[in-house]
Amino acid sequence: MRPLATLTTLLLTLPSLAYSAYCSGSPDPNAPSNSLPTTLNPAKTLVNSTDNGLVYKYNDDKFHSFLVTHLWGTPYEQGYAQGEMMGDEIDDFFQTTYEYLSKALAEELPQLRFPEWFLDLVVEKGLDWALDWTAEATAAYTDPKFFEELQGISDGSGVDYQLLLRIHMLPEATKGACSMIGASDTATETGNLLQLRALDWDVDGPFKDHANLIVYHNDDDPERVSWANIAWTGFIGSVTGFNEQKMSISEIGVTFPDDTFGKESRHGTPFVNLLRDVLEKESTFKGADDRISNADRTCNLILGVGDAKTSQFNAVQYSADVANFITSDNLQPVNDTWHAPITDITYFGMDWLCPGFSEVLHDQLVANAPLTPANMIEDVIAITQTGNLHIAVYDLAESSVYLSFAKKSDDDGSDGEGDMAFERTYTRIDADALFSTPAPTH
Ligand SMILES: *[C@@H]1O[C@H](CO)[C@@H](O)[C@H](O)[C@H]1NC(C)=O
Ligand SMILES: *[C@@H]1O[C@H](CO)[C@@H](O)[C@H](O)[C@H]1NC(C)=O
Repeated sequence: MRPLATLTTLLLTLPSLAYSAYCSGSPDPNAPSNSLPTTLNPAKTLVNSTDNGLVYKYNDDKFHSFLVTHLWGTPYEQGYAQGEMMGDEIDDFFQTTYEYLSKALAEELPQLRFPEWFLDLVVEKGLDWALDWTAEATAAYTDPKFFEELQGISDGSGVDYQLLLRIHMLPEATKGACSMIGASDTATETGNLLQLRALDWDVDGPFKDHANLIVYHNDDDPERVSWANIAWTGFIGSVTGFNEQKMSISEIGVTFPDDTFGKESRHGTPFVNLLRDVLEKESTFKGADDRISNADRTCNLILGVGDAKTSQFNAVQYSADVANFITSDNLQPVNDTWHAPITDITYFGMDWLCPGFSEVLHDQLVANAPLTPANMIEDVIAITQTGNLHIAVYDLAESSVYLSFAKKSDDDGSDGEGDMAFERTYTRIDADALFSTPAPTH
């Protein structure tokens, strides 16, 4: 890291985003469709195994391969198994992420969108102190099982526990942009729920090289539901995922709120832990909403919760002050030019106040309804140009999740595909098959 003096200087010259009313971005008006055929039956190769775990690589072709990890046992055993099987990978991901974070702060890289409170802490006390402070401010609101699993990862991999914990604070200390859709009934071809989670975050750092779907098999634990986290190796909070009860999550970081959000807080449950808890502890739509209502909430977000059992979806306007549940019947914030209600579709393009993206998303939804996974992938997502780092289209009534990931660092682009997840080949995952994968017999 550069000396703190440099950081202070940078901070004073930073334009403040907080006072701009609307986000200014919009998709390229000539954005092409994505007509690449989806990989329906990805090749699976066993990469490693241990008593409580299996790791597969999905897709032979290295430009589209990603890891799928299966874990069994107690939270500590699940962590230990992941640590044991993926030690080198976890060490690499967490070390390079820490270095990248230091660089992003020192050079004021805009991709991670650090909020002012975090920059202030870093300037005053340094990066480690700021991350440790965040961990302490949230520890009392975090399920102890989270720390047990993290300790398991550290013990299994030999990676320093404090480094693992610090990197897990990163989502609280940055903001993604992201988009979401929940559509059902008249708005989808089958009438079932179709849900989008498009993650727009950082495609320059190490995240794109460590994509990992991690399946927690919790059949033996009456307090936990089996669930799958679409994340990075060794990362145990959740921004994207689904559970065996056909529930799924979306999330948007809000940089352009209006005054209905009220205030943020630093003392509460990190949102990646709350989203994980929704998937790991809830089997019903109401249970998920109650958990979010009752949570000690922190930063400004829009969350999305879907339940394909009942074809329900709602977005949640989320801050320390409010948890407002939004469906297609009470879309917020309504604006006739850029965020008009659509029957049976709830949608947000990139932020709360983001006319440029929301309007294109609206127009694509109207033009393509009734929606299918195919027309969402081909037109709605590609033309809105959302989901640079990863995308999940959940069609859990059909046991399907369609995933796409950003181009990796070692991809020479020889297949002609673009860099962003929305421009690339998607892979279909069979959710029921994932959850019924048998434990290894040793
Ligand atoms: C595979 O897992 C075993 C534990 O079962 C571990 O000792 C080994 O280091 C792992 N291999 C790699 C390449 O990480
Ligand atoms: C709709 O959004 C535009 C900005 O794109 C804004 O100027 C206008 O006041 C908004 N209309 C309403 C009714 O809020």
